[in-house]
Amino acid sequence: MTLRVRGLTIDHGAIRAIASASFNVPKGSITAVIGANGAGKSTLLRTISGLKRATSGNILWDELAIDHLQTEQIVRAGIVHVPEGRSVVTELTVFENLALGGVWRLRKNKADVNEAIDEVYELFPRLAERRKQRADTLSGGERQMLAIGRGLVARPQLLLLDEPSLGLAPLVVEQIFQTLAQLQRSSGMTILLVEQNAMSALRIASQGIVLDQGQVVIADDARAIMNDTALRHAYLGY
Ligand SMILES: Nc1ncnc2c1ncn2[C@@H]1O[C@H](COP(=O)(O)OP(=O)(O)O)[C@@H](O)[C@H]1O
Ligand SMILES: [Mg+2]
Repeated sequence: MTLRVRGLTIDHGAIRAIASASFNVPKGSITAVIGANGAGKSTLLRTISGLKRATSGNILWDELAIDHLQTEQIVRAGIVHVPEGRSVVTELTVFENLALGGVWRLRKNKADVNEAIDEVYELFPRLAERRKQRADTLSGGERQMLAIGRGLVARPQLLLLDEPSLGLAPLVVEQIFQTLAQLQRSSGMTILLVEQNAMSALRIASQGIVLDQGQVVIADDARAIMNDTALRHAYLGY
């Protein structure tokens, strides 16, 4: 399943957040959308997942036009969004938070949900160790793992991740990104990763899309973007 974005324009009132963006997210890839604060990254993800309506343009998930579907229908089509801010339910335990991910599943089979939760525990052993602890006892990195894990319990075909590195220490970021790379390799899942942290994101991505003030300035091989000094200086700040 390939995600195709065609001529997508998204406004917040008078503010144009995304201007006529076109790109593909190929099946089984990690595609990184990178750009500064305010570039339009979150607006883009919120629109793909149906939380926000586009002004014009199309979003296709293989043959299915998803730009007019409800969020729930989009989830059922296999697209799961992990929003920015690693929001988890602090009063609930790690296990209970993960079980919430099963609510969105097409077939709410308890054994199946438990199997998906066990897979998350394998991917993030820290969560397994803390399965009975309340989420408010977790570190920032562990909360991010929990937010991602909850998304995975819905068994997405396309995982939309909004700035999982934000506010985390470099070592924790590295650990989470390596786990995402491992997940992608073992499951073949398609991941659209939105990040300000260009270096970390491009390192695990096969494709990069640079967003600047709502415009796609380049969509290319991740390695090519990393090696393009002028581009890096102009848009990525390093
Ligand atoms: N709910 C909103 N209402 C009005 N303007 C918004 C809203 N959300 C985002 N914006 C504006 O849209 C632009 C893109 O924001 P956003 O998508 O959050 O960027 P990013 O995630 O890349 O930081 C910014 O100019 C931001 O101020
Ligand atoms: Mg954002």
